[in-house]
Parts: sequence; structure tokens; C-alpha cells
Amino acid sequence: MLDLTIRPRRNRKSAWVRAMARETWLSADHFIYPLFVHDGQGTQPIASMPGCSRLSLDALYAEAEGALKDGVHAVVLFPAVDEALKTSRGEESHNPDGLVQRALKGLKARFPELTLMTDVALDPYSADGHDGIVAPDGRILNDETVEVLCKQALSQAEAGADIISPSDMMDGRVGAIRQTLDAAGFTEVSIMAYTVKYASAFYGPFRDALDSAPKFGDKKTYQMDPANVREALREVESDEAEGADMVMVKPAGPFLDVIRAVREMTALPVAAYQVSGEYAMLKAASQNGWLDEKKVVLEALTGIRRAGADVILTYYARQAARWLAE
Ligand code: PBG
Repeated sequence: MLDLTIRPRRNRKSAWVRAMARETWLSADHFIYPLFVHDGQGTQPIASMPGCSRLSLDALYAEAEGALKDGVHAVVLFPAVDEALKTSRGEESHNPDGLVQRALKGLKARFPELTLMTDVALDPYSADGHDGIVAPDGRILNDETVEVLCKQALSQAEAGADIISPSDMMDGRVGAIRQTLDAAGFTEVSIMAYTVKYASAFYGPFRDALDSAPKFGDKKTYQMDPANVREALREVESDEAEGADMVMVKPAGPFLDVIRAVREMTALPVAAYQVSGEYAMLKAASQNGWLDEKKVVLEALTGIRRAGADVILTYYARQAARWLAE
């Protein structure tokens, strides 16, 4: 016999009842918009990320203005660095007149209300395509790398970064960057740590965008094994103790359980990065007419929020903000 005393469907019977019962919502306030910059003229489309381009500085300013109009208040910058400037120790990462530093100054002067975020890691600047310095035997040198990352973070703060995001996964870098920033008087610059960053194949299109794929080997000695979740909690503990203001899980969609686990163990805001490969999948299926882009994107973003993320880095930020405003 059917037991019909309990009828959960009553809470779904109309749009207004569903609105009352809704547990999670999206707002443009939650979005961070990743942007690619290059030192040439105009925009260069990125083949594996339709709709995204490498932007000249002028195009970057136009995109930032559009984002603000759409209600997106935070951007994070990724530079496509000329091959000739890439070295084994990534010195260009802390050039005060480097591409990111110039972009920060230009954005700050034009849009003081825009929150400026930067990525700290050597891969866009590394002749080896790795996030850290590579020893002759192929090992990634942790402590030597952290010294360069501190210089990179400091030069970004000097150029106007509001939030600095170390994505390199070296041990001890959050604390070292915090000390460096504080010693230079940048006590108000925040650190959003890529705390739980997996060695994921979903970063493929991003590496096309920056031409930053590792020249040999992979990133498995510093980025995390996708099979692990307990290890994520160790990373949260150490980044929190070292002074991270926010922690991040990356990628987002395939790691919703990890977002939940991190949410439950920290009082800090949790960010999640819907990465280039997640964007490419949603975009490709939508362009083929196989999925309804607006519906699947908003559903994917809602899932990331429901899992426990406060903030979402997404290439769909502007478009999603516009959809939410419709
Ligand atoms: C650089 C960095 C990467 C991403 C963000 N910062 C690539 C990587 O670690 O190989 C990936 C972002 C994306 O795929 O959208 N360390």
C-alpha cells in the first residue's frame, strides 16, 4: 500500500512555494571572473574555450567595464607570456613592468571599485612549464620556489592586487607570502589560497590559452591526487594556520564532495574553481545543441554552491550574471 501521509511534492507545487523552500541561490556577488591577457594587439580567441580570448590591455579594460556593468566585481588575471621571456627561474613573474603588473595598475586606475586578484605560480613564466623551479634531475625545488613566489606576490601587491592567489601547491608558501606582504606593509592584501588543487586533466584548455603545459612530466609531485579527500583536510589545516583568508578547491564539478568536506572543517570562506575543462565541456555540448547552455550552466553553478562553496571562479561569470538578471 502507498503511504501518502507524507507528500514532499506539496513543497514543490508552485513557483512561490518552491521559492520558499529553496536552500541555495546564486548571485553575481559570488562570481570571480578569470581573464587572460597578452602583450599584443586586440583579442586572440582560444580554440578550446570558445567565447574566451587572450585580451590586449585595452580589450581587458573593456571587458572589466562590461563585467562591472553586469554586476561582476572581481577578476583574476592570467598572463600569456612571450616565449622569449620564459626562464628556468621565472624572473619575469616579479618584473615590476611585467604584463600582469601593468594590467593591475591600468585596472586600478580605471576601476577602483573592481576587486583585483592575481595568480601566484611560475608556470606562465617557466621555460619548463612547471609551477616551480626544476632541478637538473627533474625534481621541483620547494623552498627555492617559495622565495620566487614571495617576490612575485610582493610585486603584484605593489601593482595593486587586492587578493593574491597562490596556485603553485608548494609547501609553506602561504605563510611565507603572508610574512613578505606584512613586512612590506601590505597587511590589507588578502590571500585566497589554492588549498586543495588536484593534478587534473581538466586544466587542458587553460594550458592551451597560456601555452603553459609542462615541457616534461606532470604536476603530480605538487598537485594533489584526485583520489584523495583526507589529504585535502591536511592542506586546509596548514593553509589556515599559515594565514590564508580564504581557501579554494579546484576543479569544482568533479570534486563536490571535497568542497563539502572543506566547508565542514573551516570557518573561512570557501572558493571553488570551475576550471577551463568544465567550461569547455559545457560550451561544446551547448554549441552542438545537445544541452541547453543557460540551464546547465546555472545548474552546475548551483551544485557548486550547494556543495558548500561561497565563491565561484568561473569563465561563465559575466554570462551567468546576465542570465540571473533576466
Ligand atoms: C597555474 C594555474 C592553472 C590553473 C589556474 N592556475 C593551471 C595548472 O595548474 O596547470 C588552471 C585553471 C583552469 O584550468 O581553468 N598554476
